[in-house]
Amino acid sequence: MKILLIGSGGREHALALKLKASLDPVELYAAPGSDGMKAQGTCVDLGAEDVAGLAAWCAEHRPDLVIIGPEGPLVAGLADAVRALDIPVFGHDAATARLEGSKIFAKDFMQRHHIPCAASVAVRDLDAGEREIRTWTHGYPIVLKADGLAAGKGVVLAGTEDEALATLRSFLAGEYGEASRAVLLEAPLFGMELSFHVLVDVDADHARFLPLPPCQDHKRIFENDQGPNTGGMGAFGPIPFLKAADVQRMVDELVVPTVRGLQADGLRARGVLFLGVMWDAGGPKLLEYNCRFGDPETQVLMHLLDEDLPQLLLEVAEGRLQREKVKLHPGCALSVVLAAEGYPAAPKQGVVIDMGTPAVTVIHAGTRKTNGTWVVNGGRVLNLVTHAGNLATARTRISEALDSVQWPGMQVRGDIGLRALKHAEAGKGVADAW
Ligand code: AMP
Ligand code: GLY
Repeated sequence: MKILLIGSGGREHALALKLKASLDPVELYAAPGSDGMKAQGTCVDLGAEDVAGLAAWCAEHRPDLVIIGPEGPLVAGLADAVRALDIPVFGHDAATARLEGSKIFAKDFMQRHHIPCAASVAVRDLDAGEREIRTWTHGYPIVLKADGLAAGKGVVLAGTEDEALATLRSFLAGEYGEASRAVLLEAPLFGMELSFHVLVDVDADHARFLPLPPCQDHKRIFENDQGPNTGGMGAFGPIPFLKAADVQRMVDELVVPTVRGLQADGLRARGVLFLGVMWDAGGPKLLEYNCRFGDPETQVLMHLLDEDLPQLLLEVAEGRLQREKVKLHPGCALSVVLAAEGYPAAPKQGVVIDMGTPAVTVIHAGTRKTNGTWVVNGGRVLNLVTHAGNLATARTRISEALDSVQWPGMQVRGDIGLRALKHAEAGKGVADAW
């Protein structure tokens, strides 16, 4: 099967490795890809958001399947452009990707389809927004969200009225360009945050979905969830304290109304939806939709899946997803991010990586090879990923592997999965506070 994979990060490297693990031969191309992905395929020198260039490449090379990793090209209409060439695409139409591309659109969708979520109000001008903040009755912190894509940075939890007003002014003045000219003010939710990925295949005549195991990400840069937010410093799955009945509840209360809502609204879905979930005292609430796989969640999911990935994604891309359960390897997978010095504010680039031979999977997220040497080329640089019988064993394996990969200033959290492990060992569940 000839496959074009769009993207260049850790998520895409994890997908590339799993695609190449298929029993059938896979001829893999990645645009733009990365030096780390060159062992799996051929890099195509086109940017992930170069819709016209990528469509032209597809018209010439006729891949059997195109897989779109990041949200940018989905929101920009790459899936639509390639699908128009009659080439199967794993990735949603731009109209559906608005669920991630506009937080206000997503919130309207959730409310229209009675999906449990935080109370909110959309504001587009400063006077109205200031009035909302001054008369806010939903509790603190006020969550301010830039409406559009802001590279994962457009959410601020403001602890005071002054901070909320300052954030609102900065957003509306264009801190994230057009993406923050409209802002969603949201009530805070307190509880257990989960990443729930579901493959979705929705069209006028069918609405099917296939849940993947829920994972947990760790967003803060420092251990014990301290410091600024990042794209994610590590993830694991499945979650040891989450019961089958809990997963079923998320399916019933969040996924089923989403899939029915997509169909009712005439939105075709041919890809993955990654639901950001906050499980509070009242049950699961939807924080947000992502129209693509999470990073570093994908690294975990690819280690858990006992499926032929090209076939599975092709079924979704061709609108013929039939299975109701995915086959999984037993046990647990864990992905730990190795980040650059100064990440997330100002990651220090070009530092030489001492790359040994760890006994776990090494995923390249932000590296470059110069004269045969790997150097730092991004914020999240590498992931170490493993699969083991349980989370405790997986943690031990990663911690042993850390001796073999490092560079001066490298940042790594040693506590990925630890809190969940203790929570499970204490007999606590998803509705119990940490
Ligand atoms: P996002 O960029 O939308 O993923 O949001 C970033 C993070 O902000 C989420 O992962 C949550 O941890 C947090 N967050 C978003 N919305 C809320 C909310 N209503 N209440 C509490 N935390 C939130
Ligand atoms: N790990 C969170 C995300 O991919 O958005």
